[in-house]
Amino acid sequence: MTIRTSRRQFLKQVAVAGTALALPAASYARILGANDKLRIASIGTGGKGWSDLTATAESPHVQVVALCDIDESKMFLGRAAETFPDAKRFTDFRKLLDDSKGIDAVIVSTPDHMHAPISLPAMQLGKHVQCQKPLTHTVNEARQMRLAAKKYNVVTQMGNQIQSYSEYRTAVQLVHSGTIGKVKEVHAWQSGGMSWIKADDRPAGSEPVPETLHWNEWIGVAPMRPYLPTIYHSFNWRGWQDFSNGQLGDFGCHILDPVFGALKLTAPLTISAEAPPINREVWTKWSTVSYEFPGTEYTAGKTIKVTWYDGEGKFPPREALGLPEKYKLPGSGSVLIGEKGSLVIPHVAMPVLFPEEKFPTKYETVPARNHYTSWADACLGTDKTTSHFDYAGPLTETVLLGTIAIRLPGQALAWNAEKLELTGSPHAQGLLTKPYRSGWQPKWI
Ligand SMILES: NC(=O)c1ccc[n+]([C@@H]2O[C@H](COP(=O)([O-])OP(=O)(O)OC[C@H]3O[C@@H](n4cnc5c(N)ncnc54)[C@H](O)[C@@H]3O)[C@@H](O)[C@H]2O)c1
Repeated sequence: MTIRTSRRQFLKQVAVAGTALALPAASYARILGANDKLRIASIGTGGKGWSDLTATAESPHVQVVALCDIDESKMFLGRAAETFPDAKRFTDFRKLLDDSKGIDAVIVSTPDHMHAPISLPAMQLGKHVQCQKPLTHTVNEARQMRLAAKKYNVVTQMGNQIQSYSEYRTAVQLVHSGTIGKVKEVHAWQSGGMSWIKADDRPAGSEPVPETLHWNEWIGVAPMRPYLPTIYHSFNWRGWQDFSNGQLGDFGCHILDPVFGALKLTAPLTISAEAPPINREVWTKWSTVSYEFPGTEYTAGKTIKVTWYDGEGKFPPREALGLPEKYKLPGSGSVLIGEKGSLVIPHVAMPVLFPEEKFPTKYETVPARNHYTSWADACLGTDKTTSHFDYAGPLTETVLLGTIAIRLPGQALAWNAEKLELTGSPHAQGLLTKPYRSGWQPKWI
C-alpha cells in the first residue's frame, strides 16, 4: 500500500472522526507529498550499514538527518558523521527514537540480535523501515515484524539486495515462465568457510572497553558478557548464538530467496537437520537442513523438498543433481530440478539451464531494480518494495526454523505456521523465542 493511498485514508479518517486524536497508530507517520524529502536515520553506520546508508542516500529525494552507532571511531560513526555533517549523532537507538519527530524512516544495519528490538519500536512510531537480513534473530521476532509492518502501515524492505539484481530476477522469471517445467526438488548450498568462528567456546577474561565503544549498547538485548576485542565487534559476532544464526542465518535469506520467490513458498511443514553436536555458545561448522513445503502452482508434487548444505567445501551430493560431470558447481547457490530441465542459480551470477543441448545459452534477462532507492521511493508513494516484511517475514521464519533444527539434530520437527507451533522435540517450541536482558525487552505489538 502506498503513502498516497494512506494519505487518502488519513483524510477520510479525519473527515469521519473529526479529530486527529481518533486516528490509528499508522497515521503517526508523516504524510509525505511528491515534493517532500524522505528524512532518514541510519542505525549501524559501519560494515554493511555504510553501503545501505550511502546507496539509499544516492536518491535525490532522501535527506540523511540522523546517525546512530555504538562505535564512535573513524570506520563507524566517525566516517558517517564526516560524510553527513548536518545529521544528528547518537550512540543509543533509544535516544534517537525518543528524539525522532523529524525522522520519517530508519535503516537498521546492526548485528542480527538487535534488528527486531530496534525496528519494532520504530514501526510503532510510524517510521518506515529498511532492515538487514536475516530480518530477525528468532522466529517469534520475524512474526512480530510482519504483524507490526501491517498494523502500523509502514513501508518495509529487508536488505537481501540481490533479490533486485538482474541475476536473481531472471532466475525467478525462468521458473515462472515454465522454462524448466514444474519443480520436483531443490538443493541449495554455501560451501564457503566461516572465518568468523573465532573460538570453540566462550573464552574467559575481559579487556578494557575502548573509550569510543559503547559495549552495553552493543550487547543490547543479549545477556551481558565481558568485552573482548575482535571476537565479537565487529563482524565476528556471526559465530555466536547470542547474536547470530550462523551460516544458514547469514546466507539463507540470500540463497533461498530466489527459491522462495520462484516457487512462491510460504512456510515449511517439516524441518530436520544433520549437524555436529553443539554447545550453548558457538554455531556449528557444518549442517544439512531438510525442509518439506506444501506444493504450489510451480511445484510438481503435493509437497516439495528443499535441502540446505553448509560447511567449508560442502556441496550437495553430485548424483542428486543430475548435472553433467564437467560442470563445476558455483561455491554457493541452488539447483532447481524441474520436469523439463534444471536451473542452477549461482550466488551471484546469471542462472544456467540444463541439459545444455535443450536450452539456448542466451535467454531474455530481467533488468535490475535499485533495492535501496526503491524503498525510499516507496516511502514517498512512487514505488513498491519487493522484500517487504510480508515476504521477508516468512522467508526469515523458514531460515530460522532451520537454525532451530541445527540445535536439535536428528529430530523431525513439524511446523504449524498459523499457530506458531513447532513440535517433534520437547525443546523446539522454546527455541522460537529467547530470554531478553532485563530492561531491554522488545516492545511487542
Ligand atoms: N545484505 C548483505 O549482503 C549483507 C552483507 C553483510 C552484512 N549484512 C547484514 O548487515 C548486518 C550488519 O552486519 P556487518 O557485517 O555490517 O556487521 P558489523 O559488525 O561489521 O557492523 C555493524 C555496525 O552496526 C554498529 N552497531 C552494532 N550494534 C549497534 C547498536 N546496538 N546500535 C547502533 N549501531 C550498532 C557497529 O558499530 C557497526 O557499525 C547484519 O544483519 C548482517 O547480516 C548483510
